[in-house]
Amino acid sequence: MRQHVNPLSRFFQLPKEVEPPEDLFGNASLPIHLDIGSARGRFLIDLASLHKDWNHIGVEIRSPLVLAAEKERIAMRLDNLCFLFCNANVSLPHWLYNLGPNQLGKVSIQFPDPWFKRRHYKRRVLQPELIIALSSAMSLGGQLFIQSDLLNVINPMIYLIKETSCFDSILEGESVFRERNPFPFMTEREAYASSQGIPIYRSLFRRNSQLPPDLNDFISNLKM
Ligand SMILES: C[S@@+](CC[C@H](N)C(=O)[O-])C[C@H]1O[C@@H](n2cnc3c(N)ncnc32)[C@H](O)[C@@H]1O
Repeated sequence: MRQHVNPLSRFFQLPKEVEPPEDLFGNASLPIHLDIGSARGRFLIDLASLHKDWNHIGVEIRSPLVLAAEKERIAMRLDNLCFLFCNANVSLPHWLYNLGPNQLGKVSIQFPDPWFKRRHYKRRVLQPELIIALSSAMSLGGQLFIQSDLLNVINPMIYLIKETSCFDSILEGESVFRERNPFPFMTEREAYASSQGIPIYRSLFRRNSQLPPDLNDFISNLKM
């Protein structure tokens, strides 16, 4: 399987409809945890098995991973979980803007693909349109968790999140980075990095009461 796909290629720019929560979950009234770049899905499968009082949705751009994760989910009869094949940047904003108030309680973006070259930064998953759509959809007090083993990847994400003014850092100490993952399970990449002793940078944010900025104003004020 290909390790990376180019999310800007023509194929991955075609929008895919993401169904509303009523068509995705057994009980659509539960709050939603969205994991962006869910890969093989073990993190969400573990979480959904433990937290039956939440719905969980994983979105992933590599379809074989989604098929494998969905197969396991179906075998486990988890109706508070689904995995969807889509490009988060293309297909999620519309879905997010159509969610009801207080539906989206948690979002995680864990070890996003780094795309090291500057000219490839536009392929990184957290782009201005996505963070504004997340800001619009997330409930007051909702939590946004990000982690990466690369400072060069997590720092621009923190910058974008803070520039919205819609999130406050939830600190463990003085640093914007926290030692621990707030969730009881590790992702595949996190388990690998931990086992190799690779440093991991983690930040947790809480949605505050600020209205999201206008997308065009937001983009024109960014220093990137
Ligand atoms: C490095 S992996 C990390 C996977 C998992 N979150 C973990 O921590 O083990 C990043 C994942 O994000 C997916 N991804 C990258 N860009 C994406 C996009 N635009 N939309 C959805 N998924 C994306 C990749 O295919 C890959 O599976």
